[in-house]
Formats: sequence, structure tokens, C-alpha cells
Amino acid sequence: MTESAPVDPTSTDAWKQLAGIADGFTPDLRGWFDADASRADRYTFQAADLTVDLSKGLVTEEILGHLLKLAEDTGVADRYQAMISGEHINATEDRAVLHTALRRPKDGAGLVPEKGFVVDGQDVDKDVHATLDKVFAFADKVRSGEWVGVTGKRIETVVNIGIGGSDLGPVMVYEALKPYVQAGLEARFVSNIDPTDVYEKTADLDPETTLFIVASKTFGTLETLTNARLAREWLWKKLADAGVLADSDDARKGAVAKHFVAVSTALDKVAAFGIDPENAFGFWDWVGGRYSVDSAIGTSVVIAIGPDNWREFLAGFHALDEHMRTTPLEQNVPVLMGLLNVWYSNFLGAQSHAVLPYAQYLSRFPAYLQQLTMESNGKSVRWDGSPVTTDTGEVFWGEPGTNGQHAFYQLIHQGTRLIPADFIAVANPGHPLKDETGDGAGVEPGQDVHELFMANFFAQTKALAFGKTAEEVRAEGTAESVVPAREFSGNRPTSSILAPALTPSVVGQLIALYEHIVFVEGTIWGIDSFDQWGVELGKQLALQVTPAVGGDAEALAAQDSSTKALIEKYLALRK
Ligand code: F6P
Repeated sequence: MTESAPVDPTSTDAWKQLAGIADGFTPDLRGWFDADASRADRYTFQAADLTVDLSKGLVTEEILGHLLKLAEDTGVADRYQAMISGEHINATEDRAVLHTALRRPKDGAGLVPEKGFVVDGQDVDKDVHATLDKVFAFADKVRSGEWVGVTGKRIETVVNIGIGGSDLGPVMVYEALKPYVQAGLEARFVSNIDPTDVYEKTADLDPETTLFIVASKTFGTLETLTNARLAREWLWKKLADAGVLADSDDARKGAVAKHFVAVSTALDKVAAFGIDPENAFGFWDWVGGRYSVDSAIGTSVVIAIGPDNWREFLAGFHALDEHMRTTPLEQNVPVLMGLLNVWYSNFLGAQSHAVLPYAQYLSRFPAYLQQLTMESNGKSVRWDGSPVTTDTGEVFWGEPGTNGQHAFYQLIHQGTRLIPADFIAVANPGHPLKDETGDGAGVEPGQDVHELFMANFFAQTKALAFGKTAEEVRAEGTAESVVPAREFSGNRPTSSILAPALTPSVVGQLIALYEHIVFVEGTIWGIDSFDQWGVELGKQLALQVTPAVGGDAEALAAQDSSTKALIEKYLALRK
């Protein structure tokens, strides 16, 4: 079943009410907190292990009421139900959107839709768990040393070759769950077609103990297939140099069988590359690339952290899926966060959104979210092909705290632009270190460093919300001439997300939270958050331009004057 026409959000009464409030809106977080002792409590919500405080957002009961009405009027809950049931809500590709099916538990208790639901003739649960079992069995073999390379040595390094969703998810989760990685195993990630990437990532590796995973949904991505071929050449050459590979096609084939596996929806293309289909793990076109980290695309991470931790990771996603499905809109965290984003971007003029993890292990989370949010919601037409009626898709960006504090927070605190920010932290650090020496000037000997770190997390949202008035600055004895420069306006909105620890489950919960925030915003805007046609033109042109870059005169002459001149300059500079 395909989707009905989207509701134009701007035609709803809720939208008009919000526009009215936004006109001349003067937020007053100090006043709102002073007037309402229950504000923090009222706007703090729980989603599985995530405690989410939205009270430092620019929201009042009136605004929230209209936002919730907007969610109702645009059918957020119904469309979510349609999505998880397998309706073709990816309209431009006429596909179901079923990443939520990747994390449905095997026992099937209480599932909606019921276990065994069939989509386009496929028993989704059966296929998902058959693939998971295959990935788990393979991961166990690699982890136990049963799977050996062509010379009988156990695998020590897994190199995932993929890009976009076939890279950003696995690398982010691998970094996030480093403490769970089995000793003696390491994963690396090659993505860029810049040959430097594959060179640097393989330079110090032993081919006899290296396993490559070629991860590509389509198995047609230029970067990934080029890097896979480079890696295959590297393997053959290094093994031959070491005198452990005979000069025959059979020997080379045998080496590929032991050192290459693949993850893809296009298993025929995997076979054509020379990878044994036995060593290939499939998924399905109803999993979007940027929604695929919990599919077989995560095989590199499953090997690194093991099936038990992976099950926990999937359970975390499912807990958030259930929260999204069953929690009333007014308590539903992804719905509320998505609605706040709409409020900030469509009514208060925010162009971007910062994500600031106060957990070093989440250092790649903002990069991961950039694809999830911007490839999903950077659209100008709606799912029926008509133009959007509002702005869509904020620019997501961020860096781990406290690094960001010493780089770009200046602009968030005192700049002219509104930048809503999500602060994410965990209560229990991976490594609870103490500063035994202290500095004799505020940091006591034996200071728990995570406490210092968290003090920054709390202080930043406080400063952004409440600012510092000119009177407060003056009261510190500041010279009048610099009072304006040292004043903080406050009323800069933040959401605080606090989890007990960075467990596999919590990482799954965080990812699912943002997947559903994207869904909520996309639904309100009436866009298909699951296609990505905008990446196609550049890919096509790269192939057209390649002969010109290689010096082909005819191809060069066919370029526009700017591109032609640039390529000529490149050719002149290239040694
Ligand atoms: O170019 C964008 C994109 O299609 C992403 O959506 C996708 O995650 C990435 O390329 C990689 O695609 P594939 O997994 O098919 O190699």
C-alpha cells in the first residue's frame, strides 16, 4: 500500500497558532523557572534508560499543546504504525521501511505487528533472525580462532570497507563500545576513495591475520568497490611477498575465500567479485543505508564485541521502538524532541542543531547523525512530489564535550544565531580516573575526573539557559566598557540526555531515539525520509568527469569553463 497525500502542516490550525506565538516571541527561561517550581520535573521524561530533560527548551504549556496537536494533525502516530507494519512509506522507491524489524526479539512475545508478519510475501522475522544467526555463528568462529586465514593464523584485525551507512554506523558503534571489544581483536574502517585511506589503514597490517568485510547495500558503490579491489590486490601482493601464496588463480581465490566476506542486499554482485556467497550476509531493500547499522552491516562490530553484546544492543533499539509505539504523544520522547526541532527550525529560525556528547566514546556520534538526519530530511519535495511548504532538514553538527567548549561554544553562547543543542552524557564513565595530585587551586587531590567532566555538562546547559545579566556582570566589578561583551543573553535552548552508562543497550537506544526524531520531523514536513536522490547527480557526474581528469581531450572540452580550467590546473600540477 502506498501513502496518501501528506497533510500540509502550514494549513493546520496548530501551525497558525504557533506562528502567532512565534511572532514577537520573547522566551524567558529565568522567569519560567522562577514561576514554576515543577518545570524541570514536568519536562523531564524517561525513555528506557534515557532520562531526557527538555525543561531548558524554549517551550511553554501553550506551545507544547499546539505542537502536540500538530503531531496529531499530521498523523505521526498512524504513520509510525504504518511504517512498522511494512507499508511502502518510502514512496519514491516504492519500498517498505522496516529497520524496526531488525531488532524485534526472537521469542516474539507481545510484538506488534505479531511475530511472523509478512511484507511483500516475505516472513520478515524469520529472515532477520536467520541472518542474525548466520552473522553470530561467523562472529563466534572468528572470535574463537576457529576461522583462520589462508596460512592457518587466527584473525586479529577486521577491516570494514564501506561508506555512508555502511561505514558511519559501524565505526561509530565500534568506538562507542570499545570497552566491550575482545582482547586481541581490532576493527578498522576504510571508507574514502582517497587512496590514502586504504593505504594508511593497511600499512602496518599482517595479511595473514586480516579479514576484510566489504559492506555495501547495493554492492555498486564506486568508493567501496574500488577500495575492495585495492584491498584484494594488497592481500595478494603481501601474501606473495611473504612467500605464502602460490602464483595461481586458485591460490588467489583461496586467499579471498579466507580473507574476504561481504554484507549486501545484492548477493549476485558479491559472487561476481569473487566472494563465496557462503561468506556473505544479506539484508533487504527495506533497510535504508543510514538505518542499517543494526543489520548485517554491523558484522565488523559483532565480531569485535560478540553476539551477546550485540543482542543487548538490539534490545536497546527495541526498547526505544516500543517507547515510540506505545507512549502517548505528550510523554513520548522522540515525538517531543522532534516537535521541539520543528518549533526551533520552522518558527524560531534555527538553521542548525548541535549534538554534544559528553562521552569521548561517542566521538563519532555527531558524524553518524549527520547522515541519519541530513540524508533523511534534506528534501525540497514531499512524498507525493509536490514542493514542501516549510523549511526542512536542519544542519546537524557537533563534537564531544569539552573539546567543543574550547572551539565553537562561543557562538552558541553569544552569537546571533539560535542553535538548539542536545547534550548527552552518561553517569558512569568507561574509566573512572582520579586526579591524585590536584592543582591546589580548586581541583583537590583525588578529584574524580568524571565529576569534573560532568560539572561542565551541567554548567554549560545552565549558562545557555539562564545567561548572565549586565547587572550580574557589573556586580563583579567589571569595567562598564566591557559589560556588553561579558553579558550572556541566556534563553538558548538545550535538551539534556542522561544515561546510566554507555552500554550496548544505551547505544542502541540513542540511535533509535534519533531515528525516530527524524521520522517525526519528516512526517510533519510531509517528506520521504527514506530516499536519497540528492546524492545521485554528483555520483553520475564523477563518472562523466573521470576521463577528463585522466587527460581525455574530448571529455575535457565537454566540461563547463570553470570545471575545465580546474581540471587543466590539476593536470598541470599533477606530477
Ligand atoms: O550515496 C549515498 C548512499 O547511497 C547512502 O545512502 C549509503 O549509505 C551509501 O551511499 C553507501 O551505499 P552502499 O551501502 O550501497 O554502498
